[in-house]
Amino acid sequence: MPDTEMTRIAVLTSGGDAAGMNAAVRAVVRTGMARGFQIFGVRSGYTGLIAGDMAPLGVRDVGGIIGKGGTFLGTTRCAQIKSASGQAAAVQQLRRRGIEGLIVIGGNGSQAAAHALSQLGLAVVGIGSTIDNDLLGADPSLGFVTAVDVALEAIDRLRVTAASHNRVFLVEVMGRESGHIALAASIAGGAEACVIPERRISPETVAAEIRAAYARGKSHAIVVVAEGADYNAERLAGYLREHAEELRFELRVTTLGHIQRGGTPGLFDRMLATELGSAAIEHFAAGHTGILLGRMNSAVTATPLAQVVHACKPPPAHLIELASVLAQ
Ligand code: F6P
Repeated sequence: MPDTEMTRIAVLTSGGDAAGMNAAVRAVVRTGMARGFQIFGVRSGYTGLIAGDMAPLGVRDVGGIIGKGGTFLGTTRCAQIKSASGQAAAVQQLRRRGIEGLIVIGGNGSQAAAHALSQLGLAVVGIGSTIDNDLLGADPSLGFVTAVDVALEAIDRLRVTAASHNRVFLVEVMGRESGHIALAASIAGGAEACVIPERRISPETVAAEIRAAYARGKSHAIVVVAEGADYNAERLAGYLREHAEELRFELRVTTLGHIQRGGTPGLFDRMLATELGSAAIEHFAAGHTGILLGRMNSAVTATPLAQVVHACKPPPAHLIELASVLAQ
């Protein structure tokens, strides 16, 4: 039996889906039931919560999902949960069913709403999950590693064709406001240049880096570009095409987009999801809420939601340096 009086907990997934969300819900349900809680699954994120779209989940309901990408509960980007009336409606839907706790699996926007609900007296535990990896208190956040693996597979293939044709490829990866995916994919994919929002780089410099790569004897150049960079792939390609005659290289652009979100969770994200999902239940059982759970320095760590919502996590400066050193 749980150590607290609370017996009903709801779980939802919110924001962009990320590989491992299903595995996290599975761990919540199975650990929760083992600890004597009743777990409710909320469909379609905060939209479903406000509408009262939720039902009890049993151990069999989460069978066969540990290896599936996406989220079987469904997810939305819900504007209504940002308003006081939306938040009050969400709390009311839970209270009406005698549900006293909520587990929110999602990224920055989702955890900001989780914090708002905890300010209203709801017991909330967040699980840091976003492919963008920009969430404070979660390093890496759930789904990041699988998303980068998908990007890497694409980059490895693009290099094959780029080298065959002596071409330059701009590969745009996700990362609305952050360059974590681009940086990791660039380093691990052996890219010749990397363009991220956290370090501005002019198109002239990128062009010079590409020319220098050819001058060093390379048969191709891969430039990984974060979608959130000042010069995203489209703008950068515009510049490079304008100067095509003087630059003398052939250019192709590939935007990976949502392909990165559809991956099957690998070992890392399945394990991370399982650890975080079960830790969420243990924190509820201990009456420890108002927190975000994430992996930090190889251990599951609880960070107050209040800290998480006022910051975001930039890529480490030393990796940004390393990316340009390694692009030799
Ligand atoms: O979840 C984060 C993210 O994948 C960003 O990298 C991207 O900009 C955004 O979601 C896309 O959102 P949507 O799926 O709503 O278009």
